[in-house]
Amino acid sequence: MKILVTGGAGYIGTHTCIELIQANDEIVIVDNLSNAKYEAVKRIEQITETKIPFYQMDVCNYNGMEQIFKEEKFDGIIHFAGLKSVPESVKIPLQYYANNINSTLVLLELAKKYHVKNFVFSSSATVYGNPQTLPITEDSPLSATNPYGRTKLFIESILQDFYTCNPTFNIAILRYFNPIGAHPSGLIGEDPNGIPNNLVPYVTQVAIKKLPYLKVNGNDYPTKDGTGIRDYIHVCDLARGHVLALNKLKTNCGLVIYNLGTGTGYSVLEIIHAFSKVVGFDIPYQIVARRPGDIATCYADPTKAYQEIGFKAKYNLNDMARDAWNWQKKNPKGYE
Ligand SMILES: NC(=O)c1ccc[n+]([C@@H]2O[C@H](COP(=O)([O-])OP(=O)(O)OC[C@H]3O[C@@H](n4cnc5c(N)ncnc54)[C@H](O)[C@@H]3O)[C@@H](O)[C@H]2O)c1
Repeated sequence: MKILVTGGAGYIGTHTCIELIQANDEIVIVDNLSNAKYEAVKRIEQITETKIPFYQMDVCNYNGMEQIFKEEKFDGIIHFAGLKSVPESVKIPLQYYANNINSTLVLLELAKKYHVKNFVFSSSATVYGNPQTLPITEDSPLSATNPYGRTKLFIESILQDFYTCNPTFNIAILRYFNPIGAHPSGLIGEDPNGIPNNLVPYVTQVAIKKLPYLKVNGNDYPTKDGTGIRDYIHVCDLARGHVLALNKLKTNCGLVIYNLGTGTGYSVLEIIHAFSKVVGFDIPYQIVARRPGDIATCYADPTKAYQEIGFKAKYNLNDMARDAWNWQKKNPKGYE
């Protein structure tokens, strides 16, 4: 299939492009580089030995995107492009609503006009809000605690409404848990701007001494060691989940929703210890106040994705720590 990958120069997009190319799909990347560098696309080309068509374009730009649809004739779309920082979304909510929702509307309009009937959307475990029961199944109640999460919830509803009146479309909503790690080559990985919001790039930046110590937000949660528990999934496993979801769409399945997680939760301290083992010294950290809005525990029930698309995570926590550290060591300044 020929797949439009929006946000394909970003963290999850780059890893997914590699999996798609290895599965013999043809890809075209559209990214406005607001949170990525063109070097990331060159690295995908290096790993896959494949030339990748790339358009630096804002997905919210309808006319610009229409030209690309006319030229490329896609069979499917994977929509990663979006703003993704929870704290930033609280500060600039309108930009989050405008970017994340308008980009999706533009893609759906064009998908309809040009009959591109397979659509994969990057949703998030954040749509489960503060879960009342664990593990989280796809039927668990939905809610949002911040503007970023609300954009994901709204887009999920938009996709449901779109599907209702366009039932020949196939749509996969993938709810990611916490992707970490990097491609084993060490050529691509997560390259956040400024001080990372996510735990693992923060840990690896402390490990290379770019930052002095790690702040652990709260050790008084009702968990085994008091720190927050999340379901961390290797980004290459997550990437493979997209290929499996596309295979499902080829069977004309209509609209499907899957959790992509491992089903296992690790605490912040367990992550720090796993990384300390991999880097060979103790990573310094300090306990600070809880971050408003953070929840105690979140992990997936991955059964549905296993039963319906054969998805099962292959990498363990040690692999995730090893690969994240390998990327950070080889690229202390990210893609610069
Ligand atoms: N990383 C996570 O922890 C996580 C968890 C759950 C869901 N997600 C979702 O997965 C998707 C990809 O996340 P990521 O971690 O790879 O983020 P990322 O920021 O690395 O990648 C997103 C890419 O989209 C591009 N982009 C943003 N707005 C755009 C626009 N209007 N037009 C064109 N390009 C645009 C950015 O430049 C970036 O390259 C996002 O939708 C995110 O919300 C991420």
